[in-house]
Amino acid sequence: MSETPFDLLVIGAGPGGYVAAIRAAQLGLKVACVEKAPALGGTCLRVGCIPSKALLESSERYHEATQGLAQHGVKVSGVELDLSTMLARKDKVVTTLTRGVAGLFKKNKVTRFEGHASFQAPGEVTVTDAEGAVQTVHAKRVLIATGSSVTPLPGVELDGDRIGTSTEALSYPSVPEHLVIIGAGVIGLELGSVWARLGAKVTVLEYLDRIMGGMDAELAKTAQKIFTRQGLTFRLGVKVTGATVDGDRCVVTYEGGEPLACDRVLLAIGRRPNTENLGLERLGLSVDKRGCIPVNAHFETSVPGVFAIGDVIAGPMLAHKAEEEGIACVEHMVTGYGHVNYDAIPSVVYTHPEIASVGKSEEELKAAGIPFKKGSFPFIANGRARALEQTDGLVKILAHPETDRVLAVHIIGPRAGDLIAEAAVAIEFGASAEDIARSSHAHPTLAEAVKEAALAVDGRALHI
Ligand code: FAD
Ligand code: NAI
Repeated sequence: MSETPFDLLVIGAGPGGYVAAIRAAQLGLKVACVEKAPALGGTCLRVGCIPSKALLESSERYHEATQGLAQHGVKVSGVELDLSTMLARKDKVVTTLTRGVAGLFKKNKVTRFEGHASFQAPGEVTVTDAEGAVQTVHAKRVLIATGSSVTPLPGVELDGDRIGTSTEALSYPSVPEHLVIIGAGVIGLELGSVWARLGAKVTVLEYLDRIMGGMDAELAKTAQKIFTRQGLTFRLGVKVTGATVDGDRCVVTYEGGEPLACDRVLLAIGRRPNTENLGLERLGLSVDKRGCIPVNAHFETSVPGVFAIGDVIAGPMLAHKAEEEGIACVEHMVTGYGHVNYDAIPSVVYTHPEIASVGKSEEELKAAGIPFKKGSFPFIANGRARALEQTDGLVKILAHPETDRVLAVHIIGPRAGDLIAEAAVAIEFGASAEDIARSSHAHPTLAEAVKEAALAVDGRALHI
């Protein structure tokens, strides 16, 4: 039994929870964080953002060495894949970063509890460790940051090996011969790209009649063309009815077509909030119909003193969204101020080329009745993209026709994930397309494509 009266107990040490804990400690609160996994960092650091990006980087290098360097006049021969080294490097990146979070907790004097947290009452949480030992932690306020897990699909029998989730797909011990992915969303495209680059045949089955539902349709269409050219096979409008394993083979069944034989299946149809076994019922706290914990503008639930942020509440399931919420939540607790501008949260798909957006899609603006004018610029007309030999894609800026204020920016192309930062700052500052167009952008850079798209909003792009 711990008698320490903490000012704040955070449940979950993902990017939402650990950042909130550190910020709260910086603000002078006495903070504890309970995490059931041995390593800190949550889904993002352990089995999400970081390991997937490590593999995307390594597989891109391999692909470049085997197929991309010749056009630069660099001849290489005898290129071989050493998958175990690639996976070990990924694991090392993860371990370094998760240990880094432990170091940050020490530096900021955040007390760490290891085990599964469950509410007994609003300020009282039990922590059960792996051996079953239970201790009780008391805190004036509790912040739920328990994240999300894979949404299951009836009939798809996850066996933790051949039929698995992104977690297994980050560690396949050999390159699959044929990988079937259920869901053409972010995970399907990123991890599909990894294994296709390493030599797997990849088939993506998607329920909708398009890939990347929710993304601006023009970008999604362009992306589909590029990924198809890269060797991914998409089957759209497909209703999967089951996936079973027999030895080292799997069979995926779907309505209206022949069963697909393969050696690995990746289920990636979305994620759902982690609220099970948290003791929410003892607080009288219920979830909404999507399973999210409802909160007010300051991330407080209907139970005073109990807060929630990140994947466990509504909104995009993104690490930086969870972080912003964690910071706003604890800053509001201490200072009375704290705000997240959801219109300025970018999202990035780390494929090659990358796809990045901030603000609403054209379709969402139309549906909301918000008028817009549009300026686009293709990377094929950008000098740096030519020099890189990466000319696929475009920058599109949507601005208000009367005020010229930037409403959204959508980019598919080289380093789109880095380029979108300028757009997010522009939206945060309430900039106009003219503001971007009149800002000097170094030459020759990919960012000039953003400037040109801003000029194009006013019909005066210079290089097209
Ligand atoms: P999480 O990171 O899920 O952390 C929650 C933590 O709470 C976990 O460590 C869990 O063990 C712990 N926990 C849960 N219940 C309890 C309990 N009862 N007691 C104690 N501990 C508990 N987002 C991006 O922005 N960029 C990306 O590139 C990106 N790539 C991704 C790739 C993959 C393969 C996946 C799966 C996700 C990716 N995401 C990415 C999404 C990102 O990982 C999540 O949005 C982010 O981790 C959410 O942060 P969080 O703090 O809300 O929750
Ligand atoms: P997703 O929501 O991105 O995509 C799921 C896809 O599966 C959708 O296209 C959906 O229409 C489809 N689908 C749903 N039910 C289906 C069914 N029964 N059969 C076939 N298709 C079906 O979810 P995903 O890829 O699992 O990723 C989960 C979340 O993780 C993302 O929403 C994102 O928030 C986060 N993530 C973020 C990344 C990034 O920021 N780069 C990378 C990876 C994940």
